[in-house]
Amino acid sequence: MFSYSDSDLYCENVALADLATRVGTPAFVYSAQSILENYRAYDEAFQDIPHNVCYAVKANSSLAVLGLLARAGAGFDIVSGGELYRVLEAGADPAKVVFSGVGKTPDEVEYALASGIHRFNCESEAELLLVDAMAARRGVRPGFAVRVNPDVDANTHPYISTGLSEHKFGIAISEAPGVYERARKLVNLCADGVSCHIGSQILELSPILEAVDKVLALAASLGNAGFPIRHLDLGGGLGVAYHSGQKAPEIRAFIASLHDRLRASRLCVTVEPGRSIVGPAGILLTRVLYRKKNGPKEFVVVDAAMNDLIRPSLYRAHHEIIPVRQRPLPSITADVVGPVCESGDFLARDRTVANVMPGDYLAVCTAGAYGFVLSSNYNSRPRAPEVLVEGGAYRVIRRRETFEDLVRGETL
Ligand code: LLP
Repeated sequence: MFSYSDSDLYCENVALADLATRVGTPAFVYSAQSILENYRAYDEAFQDIPHNVCYAVKANSSLAVLGLLARAGAGFDIVSGGELYRVLEAGADPAKVVFSGVGKTPDEVEYALASGIHRFNCESEAELLLVDAMAARRGVRPGFAVRVNPDVDANTHPYISTGLSEHKFGIAISEAPGVYERARKLVNLCADGVSCHIGSQILELSPILEAVDKVLALAASLGNAGFPIRHLDLGGGLGVAYHSGQKAPEIRAFIASLHDRLRASRLCVTVEPGRSIVGPAGILLTRVLYRKKNGPKEFVVVDAAMNDLIRPSLYRAHHEIIPVRQRPLPSITADVVGPVCESGDFLARDRTVANVMPGDYLAVCTAGAYGFVLSSNYNSRPRAPEVLVEGGAYRVIRRRETFEDLVRGETL
């Protein structure tokens, strides 16, 4: 959805240089077509298997993005009351919402029950007791799945790997049967599912397949023990290509590789993809402020910083950085850095980038997931606007913050 025509970078049919001039920089820009295509790739790949594609709201929680997905029929995976509020504001059907997360508060559980969400993925026995007690008070009987930890190494960044027993997530798969047994006496809950999620930005399918086999075996044995298991939630985690030339698994091929075993299980399958739906659908547009040299080292100082996109600083994540207008000049090797007062404020280090000059625009690629949502006001920088492109049109779906926004809610 992002491609060059006559040396100018476009998002769908919108020239990004024009957009940058009108909206200003830094700005996040998303392609609606790309988001919808990625969502539909999941939805269609399941074919004849009953399924729910519950988009992981944490990846990009802008109302317009949620609304786009809700209208396309998506369900939602939420991890907080705030995310529930957002999906309801966006017009989502609460019956398609699954509530995950290791630290649900009583207020959040109450809000979720009052809203009539679909199901809970529970991560501890104490949480099961809480949800049971609150469901009793409301006279409802929600379905739940225990999030099991299958002890599979997702081979991804340690901060976003979740499926090993050393992580805080889930309940060890070996202990799960005992938890379900003890939950039999929680009469306000229906033990009708099993869930897992082993990590994010997973590029090899084998860990996912291993986890799926383990949870399928658990679901079958729970079924034999008399539990009405109908739901299998496989979480999210499919990786995307951040490096040019890198090959990430394709969504359709990924689901196809699971298709036969899932179909044979006769379960309703939920997936919770975030990054693979919105990541490649977004960029962060930024403007070059200065070029400078410190000794032999060259810097391109831009107007986007770690407060706008923290992934490079936090995970050493690689995002391609490409010019919005290509010029026939030899490229340079430089650090691309922002204005924030930290040495850790960089978007790229020792990177071969275009020979840009002050005033030129750059696009930081694959920034649609875990971009804006992780942004902050550090250094009292107003947060960037978000723009949604649809064909030849675009609209600002979140305006740029103002200085007044920065102090809203504060008192002297
Ligand atoms: N379901 C659960 C229970 C999760 O914890 C997550 C992500 C997802 C679904 C969605 O995973 P995805 O399909 O997006 O990989 N901030 C990090 C990523 C954190 C992911 C946390 N959990 C980053 O920027 O890479």
